[in-house]
Formats: sequence, structure tokens, C-alpha cells
Amino acid sequence: MRIAMIGTGYVGLVSGVCFSDFGHDVVCVDKSERKIEMLQAGEVPIYEPGLDVLMAKNVSAGRLTFTTDLASAVDGADAVFIAVGTPTRRGDGHADLTYVMAAAEEIAQAITEYTVVVTKSTVPVGTNRKVHAVVSAANPKASFDVASNPEFLREGAAIDDFMRPDRVVVGVESERAAEVMAEIYRPLYLRDFPILTTDLESAEMIKYAANAFLATKITFINEIAGLCERAGGDVKEVARGIGLDGRIGNKFLHAGPGYGGSCFPKDTAALARIGQDHAHPMQITETVIRVNDEVKKRMIEKIREACDDNFNGKTVAVLGVTFKPNTDDMRDAPSLTIVPALIGGGARVRVVDPQGRAEGEALLPGVEWLDDPYAAAAEADVVVLLTEWNEFRALNLNDLAETMKSARMVDLRNIYSSALVLGSGFETYVGVGVGDH
Ligand code: UGA
Repeated sequence: MRIAMIGTGYVGLVSGVCFSDFGHDVVCVDKSERKIEMLQAGEVPIYEPGLDVLMAKNVSAGRLTFTTDLASAVDGADAVFIAVGTPTRRGDGHADLTYVMAAAEEIAQAITEYTVVVTKSTVPVGTNRKVHAVVSAANPKASFDVASNPEFLREGAAIDDFMRPDRVVVGVESERAAEVMAEIYRPLYLRDFPILTTDLESAEMIKYAANAFLATKITFINEIAGLCERAGGDVKEVARGIGLDGRIGNKFLHAGPGYGGSCFPKDTAALARIGQDHAHPMQITETVIRVNDEVKKRMIEKIREACDDNFNGKTVAVLGVTFKPNTDDMRDAPSLTIVPALIGGGARVRVVDPQGRAEGEALLPGVEWLDDPYAAAAEADVVVLLTEWNEFRALNLNDLAETMKSARMVDLRNIYSSALVLGSGFETYVGVGVGDH
């Protein structure tokens, strides 16, 4: 199969590289000359474990190329994937479809024979029909169908998620398009990964419903964590206890500082907006959005308490600022709410993050960046574990405690235990979701 991938952002690049690894011929297209030059030079513009190696392998095999020339990539392609951004539109919370529609129009001009125009970007229900209309209007002679193929990749585990998915969802409007999509995903289908072929609108809704459901699950356990802190109980035990029920499942029940990232905040906002537009308020999703903001604020209060109720004059070492480990992504990271509050209160903040500095420097003005957790903790009043990078899981706690002014730890990801930390020279350990009883 010949595939054109429009957009070399996170989803586009990972999908393009993985499709080429299936043996398809893939041309990745981006408007940014700088990005394409980088990719042509073998450099990966994002941090995603394993992506560089897989990309190099498929470039050498001649199956994967990069260009700014959309028309040449679309010409003769069996499928053209739209994987451009759908950011939250300023002001109204809607997904901004400007880039999707602009891509659809450009693709339309370049279609020469039957092709499937596939939307990979996360788009509201009804968008694929609009894409169809835009392509038809821009090129009434074009022979094409549209398809919706939402992505379920997690950053940091994207290649594995692509190669071993829980499911692939494909929404189609014709049998012919279904056949092209089945051929593209045949390597997965033959390995028994479920491919759900459905209508366009259901596929679009599945993506929002899945992300909103996961955001709800996280927020629910975060709310239980807050209650455990007041009423008693340990949220880790509670999560284990409820997670053993197969109907609930044990995943996405880690209490923490609130969800962040490029997907959950954006998609929950968009779903809430879609609900309002259809006079069917998504009350649960709206509440989740509000509670998630409160969770982040609750974390600030935890740190304040560990600073003797006053940030002023305190030194806080923050370990991890990306929204989760194994990514350099800072979008909607809880750190963007928490760290400015510490600085605003007069704290001196030292940050260590294995990948977050490049993006983080502009987003977190006033912090001091260091490479080493022990150096960050030296003479600090409190160390805050904010992102659970593996590098922070096996710290020598005695060494860490020794360098600190007062050895206090606020562990917002529950990666340590109170017994371990207090037994290693710390005077205080504060986790998430543990009552004093
Ligand atoms: C998420 C979904 O997991 C993917 O299936 C989906 O494809 C993707 O969004 C998307 O729409 O493109 P991602 O945002 O990369 O993926 O990261 P997650 O691993 O889902 O984590 C999201 C946030 O939830 C992070 O801030 C993480 O720290 C938090 N989280 C996750 C928790 O606080 N607790 C958990 O138990 C799990």
C-alpha cells in the first residue's frame, strides 16, 4: 500500500513510521521545512522511546520518506491520512478544525485516482462528513471516500501501543474504503488484534468517549484519594481492591496530581462543548474537568503544608515537570499550575527533569534547572516528586536526606512508601491519598 501521512506531529510521525515498518510505502508530509529537513537528516523532532531506531530502519529500507510537497505524496496514494493538530479553540473550548479542513482542501486538489482520505486527528462527531464535503467541493471529479481512524497511542509507549493495540477503530462510508483500511491494518488483524469497523460517527465518538472515560477514572480515584486523606484509608489499597473487580479493571487507577497532557484536557473540553452544542450537557465530563483543576490545587496545599504553611524563603526541589515520564511534552502538565504557585509564594524552585528542560524553560520562568536530583535537593527544605520518571524511583534516600536542609518529601505519584522514606533519614513523608488513622 502507498500511504501519505499529512502532519509529522506526534501521531502522524509515529503512525507513519509504524506503517512503514508494516512494509507499506509511506511518505510523511509537513509544511514546516525545518521539520522535514530534520527528518530527512535522520533526526527525530520529538522524544519517543524507540522511534529513532525504527525510523532509521525504514528510511534505509526505502519505505519511508519525508517531503513538504503534499501533491506528490498524495498522487497515487491508496490512503491519505490527515494527522494535523486539533487544538482547543480559544474562547469556546471547541476543537479547532482549521488545519484539518485546510489539509482536506489541499489533498482534494492532488487526488488523481481513487484514494481513502482518513482522519487520524481527534475530531468532533460529524467532521468526517464535513471533510467529505470539503474534498468534493474542492475537486468535484475526485474519486475518494473518507474514513475515521482515531488514534489511541500513549506518549512514551506509542510504538508498542501501535504495534500491539487493544483495538483499531475504523469508521467508513463504503465497502471499498473498508477494504483499503483492512489491507493497511492486515499485519495487526492477522495477529488477532481486534479491528472494529463501524460507521463514521461512531468512530469519531469512540475516541472522545474513551479519553473522557479514562479521564473520569483517574479523576474518580483522585477524589477517593482526597477522601482517604480526610476519612482514613490508603488509596493504593483501595485502587487494588476495586481494580481486582474485572468490571472495573486495575488500570488508570493511580492517584496523582491530576491528569495532564495533550489529549485528556483537550478532549474532555471538546466533548463538554459538543454536549452543550447539542443541548445535552455532558455533566460527568464537565465535573471531571472541574475536579481535575481542584486536584492540582490540592497538591499545592500539600506542598505548602510541608513548607510550614509558607513558601516564602523556602527552597523546593521538584523532580519531574513533564506531564508524565518518557516524554518531553509539557502540555497541560500539572507542573504548570503547581510550580508557578510555589514561585508566586516566594519559594526558590529547583527542577530536574530528564527531558523537560527544552520546553520547560519558557513555560516555567524563574526556576533553576539542574541535571542531578541530589544537587537539586542540596540545602532544600522540601523535595517534591511530581513526575514518576524511572530515574527518580531508585534514589539513594539516605544520601538525598543528608544534603537537605530539612529532609521532607512530598511524593505526588506515590512511588515511595512512608516506611521506606522515614526509615532513610527523612523527617516527613507526604504521599497522595493516605489518611492519618
Ligand atoms: C492518552 C490515552 O491514554 C491514549 O489512549 C490516547 O490515544 C491519547 O491520550 C490521545 O488521545 O492521543 P497520553 O495523554 O499520552 O494518552 O497519556 P496517558 O498515559 O493516558 O496519561 C494521561 C495523564 O493521566 C497523565 O497526566 C498521567 O500522569 C495521568 N494518569 C494516568 C494518572 O494520573 N493516573 C493514572 O492512573 C493514569
